[in-house]
Order: sequence, then C-alpha cells, then structure tokens
Amino acid sequence: MSRKPIIAGNWKMNLLQSEAKELFSGIKDFVKQYSAEQLPIVVVAPTFTSIAAVESQRCDCGCRNLLFTAGQNCYFEKNGAYTGEISVEMLKDAGCEYIIIGHSERRQYFSETDEMINKKAKAILSNGLIPIICCGETLEQREAGVTDTHIAGQIKAALESLTEEEISKSAIAYEPIWAIGTGKTCDSDEANRVIAMIRNVVKEISSTSAGDAVRILYGGSVNPSTIEEQMSKSDIDGALVGGASLKVDSFTSIIANTMKVAV
Ligand code: 13P
Repeated sequence: MSRKPIIAGNWKMNLLQSEAKELFSGIKDFVKQYSAEQLPIVVVAPTFTSIAAVESQRCDCGCRNLLFTAGQNCYFEKNGAYTGEISVEMLKDAGCEYIIIGHSERRQYFSETDEMINKKAKAILSNGLIPIICCGETLEQREAGVTDTHIAGQIKAALESLTEEEISKSAIAYEPIWAIGTGKTCDSDEANRVIAMIRNVVKEISSTSAGDAVRILYGGSVNPSTIEEQMSKSDIDGALVGGASLKVDSFTSIIANTMKVAV
C-alpha cells in the first residue's frame, strides 16, 4: 500500500505576518521547481493571524496544489458565543485544507481532552478537511513502560465512531513529548514500532483498509539530518516539524531529503 508522504510544518506561536510571508515565499520558490507528483504533500500551519498573508501568496503563484495550509487548532462548534475560538468552517473559508488537533502543547497548556479531540475530528471531517491528530507519551510514561497503552487509548478515543472512510482520509502524528523541541529525536526503529502499533490499533477498531490508508507521521526534533532514515522506515509516512520548519533552508532540506527516499 503506497501512502503519499506528508511533510507538515507547525509554526506554533511564531512569526509575525511579514516573517510568515517571507518564510512561505522561500518554501514556495523551492516547491515550484517540482510537480505535485514529485513532491510529498507539503503543509504549513501558520498562526491564525498569518493564514491570510500566506493564502494570498498561495493563490497568486498557482501553487495551490503544491503547498497546503493548516490550522493549528479549531473549535468543534459551528459558530456562536465561544469567545476566542475559531470554527472549522472559518478555517476552510480562510483556505486551510488540514487542521492539527490534540497537539501535546494544547493538551498540556489548554486542557484539551480526548473527548474534545474526537469532536474536533468529526467537525473537521464533516467539513471536508483533514485532521492531523496528535498523540504521544511523556518521558515518565515511557519509563514506566506504558507508552503503547497510553497511545492506543488516545487513538481509540480520538477516532471513536468515525467511519472507515473518515479514518482513511485522516492523518495521525506520533509525537513523543520528550522529543519535542529537545533535539532528542526518537530512535527511528522505535518511532516506526510505535507507528506500526498505532496502525494495528486502527485496523482493530476500524478495518484493515483504514489502517493501511491512514497516514501516520512522526514528530519530535525532526531535522534535515534525521528525515532520510525516518522516511526509509516501513510505517512512517511523513513528519510534523516544529523548530526546523521555521527556516526556509531547513524545511526545504527536509522536503528534498524526503524526496530522495520516499514519494
Ligand atoms: P520540534 O520539531 O521543534 O521538536 O516540534 C515538534 C512538534 O511539536 C511539531 O508539532
């Protein structure tokens, strides 16, 4: 089963509009040298305030099919009295095709629960967008030997009552929390093992074809020197990149190195 790789840059709470434009422009100049067939699916997730700036460049350059945008979060309700929140429809209207949900920073600092993540996944899919559902264990959980049960629980809860077709379209990102922003990348064989375990959970709760179709990315200190080995593994379908997505050179090198081994 061949799954088109996804390389997604999560810009987190970084970059003013002018900086986001400059970064996007550099990425755009790189991807424009290739066709959509040659590239992985390249996604960037700017802050809400920079989505319009990025989208206007994406429309101008005819690269809508080479580069995609994502929201970093959303709310599951359609509209109404939810001060400070952004709906899926609003992100779709702004041009986004993907939305990251359940990032460990949102779980940790903003009390996002598995139940909310499931509601968000449903809202995203019913609007025709693609969720990138994050999961991952803390160092304490890894040391206590509960990594697999913890992650299986997060995945089961996030995918609760989604159809086989919805799951097949979705993306999951395995991001061990101890590897995020620390420079301590998870060993690629171990990342591949956990990702294969997630795929088996999907097969068990949905179907073999959904498990074979769902794209599962690795995230946590991914950089141009780690990506080739990560992408050469059987079950790793791409990367969710934080720090290294904030510089044109490092993000485009990650894309280029992905193209050497997978696409
Ligand atoms: P880093 O690549 O900076 O470790 O961040 C990973 C991440 O959290 C992406 O969502």
